[in-house]
Amino acid sequence: MAWNNVLCMYYSRTGRTKKAMEDIARVLGAELVELRDGVDRSGWGGWIRCGLDAMRKSTRPVKYQTKFPLTDYRLVIIGTPVWAGRCSSVVRGFLKQHGRELRNASYVLTRGSEDKNEEIFEQMDLYTPCGHRTAVSLRPDSVGFAFWQEEFLRQTREFLQS
Ligand SMILES: Cc1cc2nc3c(=O)[nH]c(=O)nc-3n(C[C@H](O)[C@H](O)[C@H](O)COP(=O)(O)O)c2cc1C
Repeated sequence: MAWNNVLCMYYSRTGRTKKAMEDIARVLGAELVELRDGVDRSGWGGWIRCGLDAMRKSTRPVKYQTKFPLTDYRLVIIGTPVWAGRCSSVVRGFLKQHGRELRNASYVLTRGSEDKNEEIFEQMDLYTPCGHRTAVSLRPDSVGFAFWQEEFLRQTREFLQS
């Protein structure tokens, strides 16, 4: 098991959430796992499908492979891009199927606009009875990105030490 019993899971269409979660997992010494639902979301057709899926809240069965059952991890950190003001339908699918298995959850959003879309944290909490311990909304390539990522890591470490 990763030394501190932390699992990082993410969906990423164009690599921005993946990069943020790779950094977070490396710093925390956590296991890193990608979520997939088998849908081709490449190109413009894929972009439109992402938007429609997010707005309709439609989901498909999500596949992933972790070393241990989800209930074994002290903290599961979930990374998702913002789609149309919501979490990605892949992460929504995962939370619908497995949100109840999480002992503690943290959320990492990546977004393209100024708007932090922090109401998405509460939307995700609807699927996780444990609620979230820490959360951050990151805009990759923005001036504040490193600051907010570091602040999220600080708060998450504080939770893990409590
Ligand atoms: C269909 C679609 C809808 C999006 N809607 C939003 C949005 O409402 N607000 C926002 O800030 N960014 C929005 N974005 C931008 C992504 O959230 C942002 O580029 C994200 O970092 C991409 O992460 P990824 O590379 O891991 O897929 C949208 C992207 C897509 C594909």
